[in-house]
Amino acid sequence: CGIVGYYGKDYAAKMVLDGLSQLEYRGYDSAGIALIEDSGHLIYAKEKGRLKNLEETMHVQNLEGHIGIGHTRWATHGAPSKVNAHPHLNEARTIAVVHNGIIENYMELKKELIGYGYKFVSDTDTEVIAHLIDFYEAGNLVNAVYNAAKRLKGAYALGIISSNQPDTLIAVRNESPLVIGVKGQEYMIASDIPALLKVTRDVYYMDNGEVAIIEKGKLRIQDYAGNLVQKTLTHIDWDIEAASKNGFDHFMMKEIYDQPSAIHETLARRLDSNKMIQLDDIKLSKQEFEQIQKVYIVACGTAYHAGLVGKYAIEKLAHVPVTVDIASEFRYSDPFIDGNTLLIAVSQSGETADTLAAVREAKRKGARVLAITNVVGSSVARESHDVFYTWAGPEIAVASTKAYTAQLIAFYMLALHFARIKDTIAYNDYREKVEQIEKLTPAVEEILSRKETVKEIAQTLLEAKSAFYLGRGLDYMSAMEAALKLKEISYMHTEAFAAGELKHGTIALIEEGIPVLAIVTQDRLAEKMISNMKEVKARGAYVIAIAKEGIEHIHEVADKVIELPKAPDLFMPILSVVPSQLLAYYVSTLKNNDVDKPRNLAKSVTVE
Ligand code: G6P
Repeated sequence: CGIVGYYGKDYAAKMVLDGLSQLEYRGYDSAGIALIEDSGHLIYAKEKGRLKNLEETMHVQNLEGHIGIGHTRWATHGAPSKVNAHPHLNEARTIAVVHNGIIENYMELKKELIGYGYKFVSDTDTEVIAHLIDFYEAGNLVNAVYNAAKRLKGAYALGIISSNQPDTLIAVRNESPLVIGVKGQEYMIASDIPALLKVTRDVYYMDNGEVAIIEKGKLRIQDYAGNLVQKTLTHIDWDIEAASKNGFDHFMMKEIYDQPSAIHETLARRLDSNKMIQLDDIKLSKQEFEQIQKVYIVACGTAYHAGLVGKYAIEKLAHVPVTVDIASEFRYSDPFIDGNTLLIAVSQSGETADTLAAVREAKRKGARVLAITNVVGSSVARESHDVFYTWAGPEIAVASTKAYTAQLIAFYMLALHFARIKDTIAYNDYREKVEQIEKLTPAVEEILSRKETVKEIAQTLLEAKSAFYLGRGLDYMSAMEAALKLKEISYMHTEAFAAGELKHGTIALIEEGIPVLAIVTQDRLAEKMISNMKEVKARGAYVIAIAKEGIEHIHEVADKVIELPKAPDLFMPILSVVPSQLLAYYVSTLKNNDVDKPRNLAKSVTVE
């Protein structure tokens, strides 16, 4: 979910709704907006479902106010409903609040406020904020916001307006992302950059414990003690066009097609004229790296799957033991780390709450923290010691595609970089591997040019209730990502299995006609995979192979084969994921699912 606010010469309703529509990719189940009309009245509206529902009820074109706030909600406390949607108001309907985050002590505050006679209408944690500001408001909104904010525990980015002070917009940040866009006397507050790009490219990144007050056309940013904070404006270079669909029906397909350039950009921009990898944002010296005894890779979802491949690459090339963990598990596991540990946090958005918490936990224990992220200036990037930006460009579709392949490239490059520092790779081998990575760009293009074959195969999966992905070694890692892709957008039950584990239970699930997708790209494991495919085939499975060209017997064993151009085994995950993404896309669109915004999912999970 996300918040937006506008203060300026334009109509706030239109500006806020435009901004919210740019945040749609984060996923949401309801939306709302509040405005100060030119008469000084506060009006608001909220609706379940899509933003257009809200636009229809509001008759936006008839609204005249110039100050407003809005919100898209993804339910955490209380079910998705109109009453739980933001903004939340005080009883007199004079104060409106939008909030992204979670207030941990809301039950306690709610009890206290009920004790004073306050009446609550929703199940949300946010409603307490509106009543709390009301409680403290004695003719001064700014002071009331301060007093209220000091009582709140948890994560929040807030946008606040009040008809008692109709020329003011206030924004507060603690632990939830918040930016303020500035263009002359026009201001926009937002949870994320895309929401304000139409208005301005000049932004302030708010830090924890800061309050932005826009009053009578002027902005000031203060800390919780009321001291003015001097901030520097950041200019955003992204092109808003880059975030549009580029002629494709859906963002996901556009982003699948962005992969050759995402791979190329991530690599090429960091090769010097001798084709040596230069990582300027990574300050880890040779001496420091030699102290590193183990590496942790921590992430969620697709980024976690990239980490599994990353482990393999780093161990193989740089000879350091690597543990990969899911961020939500890692943060509560009292991990065994110290000053000789390197933690690599992987996050497309750089705002995932669990990954950020893992970064903080690792820092607290003295680890060196390196981030791999796609968003410049994101929380994970800012809180880590070193950063590797993937430069895949904004990823809008909820299901991650190009960010994943760019993360894999980042890991290959890091592994080579570490190997060079540690002297665990010969110069010629290093050069050869860089060239092999360069060749992945045309190889991905070749796979994309054969997308119709994948579409035909997708047609055959529409009736299936379940599908299984199998793989060994790196192909097992790719199988996990492939299974996640298919389940999250097709809503089909899918699972990935290590092919060697089949006989230990999984094989009981194989019955007549069940689709089994076998990923076969690792030369030394291919023969074993062929045997596993025979085992499921003998029990009636419909076998689809995603296989490197030239694997022996593959056409005899599989019902269908999607062939991949040849690359060294280590780099095959980049190639094998592409048909899996296409397959998931086609199954989803052929089923008429909302492929870019699958049900129940959010692009960026900024709550625990
Ligand atoms: C959500 C998204 C996934 C993503 C995961 C981690 O669950 O739907 O696509 O992989 O978060 O996101 P991050 O931004 O940290 O990579």
